[in-house]
Amino acid sequence: MSEPKKELVLGVGAGIAAYKACDLLRRLQDFGFGVTVVPTPSSLNFVGKTTWEALSGRQVNTQVWEDVPNVAHIALADRSDYLLVAPATADLIARIAHGRADDLLTNVVLATQAPIFIVPAMHPQMWLNAATIANVELLRARGITVMEPHVGRLTGSDSGIGRFPDTESIIIAFKASIGPSQDLLGKRILITAGGTREEIDPVRYIGNRSSGKQGYALAAAAISRGARVQLIAANTHLPDVAGAEIIKVGSTAQMHTALEAAFAECDALIMCAAVADARPLQSSAHKIKSKSFEKIELTPNEDLLASVAHQRRSGQILVGFAAETEDGFANAQRKIETKGIDLIYVNDVSGGAIFNSELTHGWIIDKDGYSKEIAETTKDTLANELLDMVSHRLGLPNV
Ligand code: CTP
Repeated sequence: MSEPKKELVLGVGAGIAAYKACDLLRRLQDFGFGVTVVPTPSSLNFVGKTTWEALSGRQVNTQVWEDVPNVAHIALADRSDYLLVAPATADLIARIAHGRADDLLTNVVLATQAPIFIVPAMHPQMWLNAATIANVELLRARGITVMEPHVGRLTGSDSGIGRFPDTESIIIAFKASIGPSQDLLGKRILITAGGTREEIDPVRYIGNRSSGKQGYALAAAAISRGARVQLIAANTHLPDVAGAEIIKVGSTAQMHTALEAAFAECDALIMCAAVADARPLQSSAHKIKSKSFEKIELTPNEDLLASVAHQRRSGQILVGFAAETEDGFANAQRKIETKGIDLIYVNDVSGGAIFNSELTHGWIIDKDGYSKEIAETTKDTLANELLDMVSHRLGLPNV
């Protein structure tokens, strides 16, 4: 990946969840952040300095008495784009709320202009204590984001609210709090949406259930990340995506023509549309009477994705979709190869699931063997997950 674009301080409080922040650090680095870890002195009881230095590849200090010539608290406060405190104990939240500056982390918090995001972790009694509630309110009133902790098993035998959220949830909430990134600024993203239809006669067609919602969600997400978007939409009935150039098509042949015209200029093609695999050998100019409507002779359509993949320039990223009902994962892996693409999103549409729904679930698989399960989520979230991977493959820091 290219040089990190954004600098982040990861503040670590003295909770057992400090060990989970090691994974969080890795994920933040994957997203292109340059991360400096600032643990509180007592948090070193859980995870030591050496671990943080090894993972971050940077020097780690806990007190203002270290690295004095560089005035570390001011230097860190000034150069940070974001401050993420995870885990934050009740004590750390209290100290931040009351403007204390008794270790390096709380000094940085006081001195920075950067947005601050806090992930609490503590036992329910402490989270629900009137003092903590008041402190959290104070922080939120000052514009600091305090994430709600999760409900679940805690250290010891208790369970309830106060559990440190899983890394994925923290990343999603943190990214939402910092707003859409502009990582795709100026990039041209070509997206197909909906489902093509093949005319049998003026009344009938061969079609599929694709609503176009996922393709439109991708277009909207790419626009908000700064991309220039061309959306080839087949038989959709959705409101236009503001800012996208929309090319309406009906049949596979029309989609092919539109794709051929736009492909050379794009940095990435996301082929979300459900393309009819075959068309009637002949479409009748007149309505076929029911008595003669017995069989339709079909001829296969060209594979549009495979065909444009043959014309790809180096650096262009190609993404496919696969709607499957059995052996989805293996089929999708095979399609990456046969179609010559970089990534595929596969979902199980048994019983018509996912079509026209606001939600989706499935797997993102890439040509290098990496795969990621997408638990049920909105089509907007999936859109951003896929764009993160496109952005990464385009060599853009994903911030
Ligand atoms: N696709 C395409 N042209 C076709 C068929 C599919 O470009 N004629 C694209 C779809 O837009 C999608 C990907 O290929 O991005 C996979 O589509 P899918 O229908 O799952 O693939 P098929 O090759 O048709 O495989 P199957 O035998 O499962 O129908």
